[in-house]
Amino acid sequence: MSINGGRECDRINVAIDGPAGAGKSTVARKVAEQLGYVYIDTGAMYRAVTLAANRAGIHPGETDGLKQLVNSLSIRLAPGENGQMVFLNEEDVTSAIRSREVTLHVSQVASHESVRIRLVELQRQLAASRGIVMDGRDIGTHVLPDAELKVFLTASVQIRAKRRYEELKDLEGISLEQLEAEIAKRDLSDEQREISPLVCAQDAIKVDSTELTIDQVVALILDLSRTKLAEAK
Ligand code: CDP
Repeated sequence: MSINGGRECDRINVAIDGPAGAGKSTVARKVAEQLGYVYIDTGAMYRAVTLAANRAGIHPGETDGLKQLVNSLSIRLAPGENGQMVFLNEEDVTSAIRSREVTLHVSQVASHESVRIRLVELQRQLAASRGIVMDGRDIGTHVLPDAELKVFLTASVQIRAKRRYEELKDLEGISLEQLEAEIAKRDLSDEQREISPLVCAQDAIKVDSTELTIDQVVALILDLSRTKLAEAK
């Protein structure tokens, strides 16, 4: 069976949604690698817009300023040795978008209609030829409602905070408790926003990773992908 470079029906799109720190990006990257697919981290795109806004002194609540900004930016994703690289107006911002300042503002920036319209358009273009594993908050419900496989990956907030705490290289003096409170706040804001909130799609398969390793989750999603691939042929 040909996957990459094959006919479109030989490839499927996989949507992985869920709250912060559930392991979406690591899992999605590994699943994409195994299938020979392209991984797209949509959160990185919202982070890039947030970084640009922070740099331009645009407050995350400034609707008009953000609209102008997002329509004038170029955001490009490219595969790199250590995962996906992100370019903002051709500057490599892969590390810069992970800063605490960006993390604290990203949910508010992502709640603006103009920002979502622009980024969703880019995301759909990237997924048009299929063979994509895309992770985010609204992929199964809004960006790719026709994705053959939708997974909603979750875990308890305590374990998500613990994982993020261990993964962050520069904690900038934040405690585990503070991180947990920040993650819970971001989840709430993502779940309660008016446009494309974080919600499990009706046809998504819910996977709770609280007691599972990354490799177990990857194996599970690969199994599901192979079943969907066989059905799509
Ligand atoms: O990696 P982490 O779980 O910290 O979050 P992320 O995937 O980098 O996403 C950062 C933020 O972008 C989320 O908290 C959402 O506010 C927003 N986002 C979104 O609104 N829609 C998406 N499809 C992806 C991210």
